[in-house]
Amino acid sequence: MRTHYCGELRKEHIGETVTFYGWIDRRRDHGGVIFLDLRDRSGIVQIVSDPQRTPDSYEQANALRNEYVVEITGRVTQRPEESLNTRIPTGEVEIYADKIELLNAVRKQLPFQVSVADTETVREDLRLKYRYLDLRRDRMAQNLQLRHKIVKAMRRYLEDLEGFIEVETPILTRSTPEGARDYVLPSRVNPGEWYALPQSPQLFKQLLMVSGLDRYYQIARCFRDEDLRADRQPEFTQLDMEMSFMSQEEIIELNEKLVCHIFKTVKGIELQRPFPRLTYADGMERYGSDKPDTRYDLELVDVSDIVKDSGFKVFRDTVTNGGIVKILPIPNGNDVISNVRIKPGGDLFKEASEAGAKGLAYIRVRDDGEIDTIGAIKDNLSVEQKEEILRRTGAKAGHLLLFGAGDAATVNKTLDRLRQAIAKEFELIDPEKINLLWITDFPMFEWNADEKRLEALHHPFTAPHPDDLSDLKTARAQAYDLVLNGVEVGGGSLRIYQREIQQQVFEAIGLSPEEAQSKFGFLLEAFEYGTPPHGGIAYGLDRLVMLLAKEESIRDVIAFPKTQQARCLLTDAPSSVDAKQLKELHVASTYKPKS
Ligand code: AMO
Repeated sequence: MRTHYCGELRKEHIGETVTFYGWIDRRRDHGGVIFLDLRDRSGIVQIVSDPQRTPDSYEQANALRNEYVVEITGRVTQRPEESLNTRIPTGEVEIYADKIELLNAVRKQLPFQVSVADTETVREDLRLKYRYLDLRRDRMAQNLQLRHKIVKAMRRYLEDLEGFIEVETPILTRSTPEGARDYVLPSRVNPGEWYALPQSPQLFKQLLMVSGLDRYYQIARCFRDEDLRADRQPEFTQLDMEMSFMSQEEIIELNEKLVCHIFKTVKGIELQRPFPRLTYADGMERYGSDKPDTRYDLELVDVSDIVKDSGFKVFRDTVTNGGIVKILPIPNGNDVISNVRIKPGGDLFKEASEAGAKGLAYIRVRDDGEIDTIGAIKDNLSVEQKEEILRRTGAKAGHLLLFGAGDAATVNKTLDRLRQAIAKEFELIDPEKINLLWITDFPMFEWNADEKRLEALHHPFTAPHPDDLSDLKTARAQAYDLVLNGVEVGGGSLRIYQREIQQQVFEAIGLSPEEAQSKFGFLLEAFEYGTPPHGGIAYGLDRLVMLLAKEESIRDVIAFPKTQQARCLLTDAPSSVDAKQLKELHVASTYKPKS
C-alpha cells in the first residue's frame, strides 16, 4: 500500500518507513552502492541500496534499469551534508530500500530518454508517436498539471463564487456557423443525413438561456476543420460561458475577475483591474491588428493625407482609389536593417509580400539626420512632405520608416507582420510582461471578397450596437475579444434575442428567409417563447494554458494533439474503414489516390 508520493518526502518524515510506487528515472552505481531516482507524477526521490545496510533489496536494485516500474519500501534518512540536493524539494532525504518489488520491466529500447535529468530535445513526431512516454517527461507532465490547475480555478470561481452551472451540450449536432469548415458524420439510421460536430456550443448555450438556466458554463470540446497553426487544433477546448440579464460592462467585469482569479490561484500573480481597452478601429489604426501585442510600442502612423498629393504615383493613386498609406517607424532601424533585406529577395520583403504587399518603400534617417530614400519616392516627395512625415512619425536620427500602401486590409496585415518580426529581432518583448487587453466595438460584418458577400465578423448571433440599428451593414457589434500578449484568448458578445433582428442579420449575410428557416428555424422559434437578453464569451483554454506555460504551441499543452496535417501519430488516425461500415452508412468515397 502506498504511503506517500515520491515528491512529498521531507525532513519531517525522517525515521518513518514508507512505501512508494513509481518509475526508475535513473540508476547510478557508486562503487557498489546503488542510487535510484524514483519518479511518480509528484516528483523524484532518491533511493539507496547497498550490500551492507539493505542486503535484501541489493540484488533487485542492481538489476533495475530506466523506466522499470517498481514498488519500494524503505526508511527515510537524512542525506549526508555533502549530498544534499537543493534543486529538488526532496533533496534533504533519501530512502534506504528494505524491499524492492519489480512490477514491470521495459522490454524494448526506449525511443528517447524520459528522465527528468535529460534535457535533450526530441523530434516532435517521435514525441507524438510515443506520447505516453513524452507525457512522463518533466515538461509535459508540468504542462498537464498546470492545465488541470487552470481548469480547477475556473470551475471554483464560476461555480463557488458566481453561481454558474455546468451543462453538457451535444457533440452529434447540426452545423454551428463559427466560420470554419465542419467535421461531418454520416447517420446510419437516417440514410443520406449527416451530423456536424460542433464548432462551439453557441446555439445550445443560447437555448439554455431561453430555458432560464441564467448562468451556464462548460469545458467544451470544439471541432473546426481549418488550416492548422501553432495556436490552432482541429479539436480544441473552450471555457464556454453564457449569462442572462447582464450588460456588456457586467460581463466584462465578471470575466476580468475570473481571469484575475486564475492568475492569482495558479501563478500567484495579482493583475491590475480594469484591463485596458481598445476599440477595433483604434487597434487597426495604431497596430494594424485586432489582437495587438501591446508589450512594445512600434505604433503605425497613417500618412495618407500627406502623400495623397505627392508626385509619387503609387501613393497618390492608392489614396485616390480609397486605399491608405501607413508607416511603421523603427527606432535604430537604419543601422540594423540593410536595403538588401527590404528589397525583393530579402527577409522583410518576403514577410511583407506574404501578407499581400507588392513592395516596401522606405525612408532612412541617417545618424547625422540626413534623409535617405531610394527610387521614385526620393524625387517625388517634397521637402515639406518629408518633414511632415518625420514630424508625425516622431522620427529621429537612426530611424527607418517602412511604408505600406494599398487597400487598408493588406496594409494593416503587412505592417502588423513586420511590426511583430521587428519586435522579435530587436528584442523589444519583455517575456515577463502580461498584457491583457479588451478589443471592443467590432464591426458586425466584413466583406468576403471570394464569395462577394458580407459575413459576420464574430458569428451571426451577435447583437448590433443599439445606436447603429438604422444601417446594419455598417453597424458596430456588441462584441469583445480578450487579447493576451498578442494572442486572442477569448471572444464573446451580447446576443440577438429578438426574431426580427436575427432575421435582418441573416438577410445581411445573404441567407434567404427559406435558408434561415431551414438552418436556424429552431432558434428563431425559441426567440418567440420569452427569451431573456443574454450574452457570453468563450476562452481558448489551450491558448491560455500555452501562454501561462510559456510554450510556443498549443500542441505542448494538449495530452494527445494532432499534427499540422491533422493526424494523430499515436493511433494513426484518420484511417480507412471497412467497406462493410461504409455500406451500412450509405457512404462511398470518391477519393482517387494520385498515382
Ligand atoms: P471564437 O470562435 O472566437 O468564439 O472562439 C473562442 C476562442 O476559442 C479559441 N479558438 C481556438 N483555439 C484552438 N484551436 C482553434 N482552432 C481555435 N479556434 C478558436 C480562441 C478563441 O478566442 N461561440 C463563440 C464564443 C461566444 O461568442 O461566446 C466562439 O466560439 O482563443
